[in-house]
Amino acid sequence: MKKFLCLIFLVAGLLLTGCAKNGRQIMEKEGCFSCHRYKGYGADICPDLTEITKNRSDEFIIQQLKDPGKNFPDSKMPSYNHLSDNEIKAILDYLKTGK
Ligand code: HEC
Repeated sequence: MKKFLCLIFLVAGLLLTGCAKNGRQIMEKEGCFSCHRYKGYGADICPDLTEITKNRSDEFIIQQLKDPGKNFPDSKMPSYNHLSDNEIKAILDYLKTGK
């Protein structure tokens, strides 16, 4: 019986990691691409994010998502404070694939 339970947890664990959303999906869902362009995809009315992680630190980008007004006092970007730390990290990891 114990072995059976272990197996269930293992399978559930694998499923959960497999279903974790990646940064790209989160950015689609949150509408980032309606303002930003990334690797040639999305609107280009705001800064292109393709090489953003070359020019800005992780902290700056995290701050931009949580409270853009701290980076740019009259920021036009909405705050993404509702995202979890994991979701923000996923976006950051995804943006790093562009540099
Ligand atoms: C309504 C348009 C809009 C949306 C939606 C938006 N942004 Fe922005 N973003 C901006 C603007 C405008 C700036 C320029 C700086 C400012 O005004 O804050 C910016 C700046 C940034 C910067 C810093 C750029 C730099 O040059 O330092 C990053 C990183 C960024 N956005 C990421 C995102 C991500 C990731 C999302 C989605 C979760 C997103 N933005 C959604 C408008 C938007």
